[in-house]
Amino acid sequence: MATHPKTRFTTMDSDEHVGDDYFLSSGDKVRYFFEVDAFDDKGELVTDKTKAINKIGHALHELEPEFRKFSFRQGVKDIMHSLQYKDPRILQSMLIFKASARRRPPPPPAAQLLPQPKIGGTVPPHQDSTFLYTNPPSAVGFWFALEDCTLDNGCMWFLPGSHKTIPVWQRMVRKPTGSGTTFIHLQDPVPDPPESEYVCAPVSVGSLVLIHGAVYHKSGHNYSDKSRWIYTFHCIEGEDAGHTYDERNWLQPTKEMPLAKLYETEA
Ligand code: FE2
Repeated sequence: MATHPKTRFTTMDSDEHVGDDYFLSSGDKVRYFFEVDAFDDKGELVTDKTKAINKIGHALHELEPEFRKFSFRQGVKDIMHSLQYKDPRILQSMLIFKASARRRPPPPPAAQLLPQPKIGGTVPPHQDSTFLYTNPPSAVGFWFALEDCTLDNGCMWFLPGSHKTIPVWQRMVRKPTGSGTTFIHLQDPVPDPPESEYVCAPVSVGSLVLIHGAVYHKSGHNYSDKSRWIYTFHCIEGEDAGHTYDERNWLQPTKEMPLAKLYETEA
């Protein structure tokens, strides 16, 4: 544990997580990323290591037999057929935990009127295609609830209809210098939609949520005693359908692990 990279996962408000090679080279591996609040000022874990993990990614669908079977099964292919994808590829997969472990030490007295803070972090509003960019945009997320996802343990929230009204206006790219990432604008920036317009989407265990790559969504902090485990993977439309996935994306397929063609890959 002492030698494991302390890479923490955040989505939008910092590029700390995507600045390090442990993250950027995880596209063809199974790696572990910590919650933002997992460490104290001295770099010590504030909770048990099994509760400090934010997510595991990003090649579970390739490297873990059970996840491979699950991700490439016929039902997934049928859904992508029904969405009229011609050459879908699975790009990345993740287990996301949004752990419920209490911080140690406990919060100071001034904070005790607020809900007891737990460690599972917030995901700020974003469009998935910002991070999984193709030209034209095509990302679709498969998001499976492995536990009940409630208001208390950090269910997702969506901005209804935003995939039809707000184009993918920025993308995350690797910095030309090599290490780290940054965001580039594809058009004029779109101001953050008001938080009040989001609608919560609690779902029960076993639910599948399909996420359009352009829909604004977010999830809250886990303030509860219950964890909120989910498994998710993303598909993009491939080059046989005329879509381009370029070398500026953070996740780069390798010769050993090209982006698997969904329709041609056996579960
Ligand atoms: Fe997302």
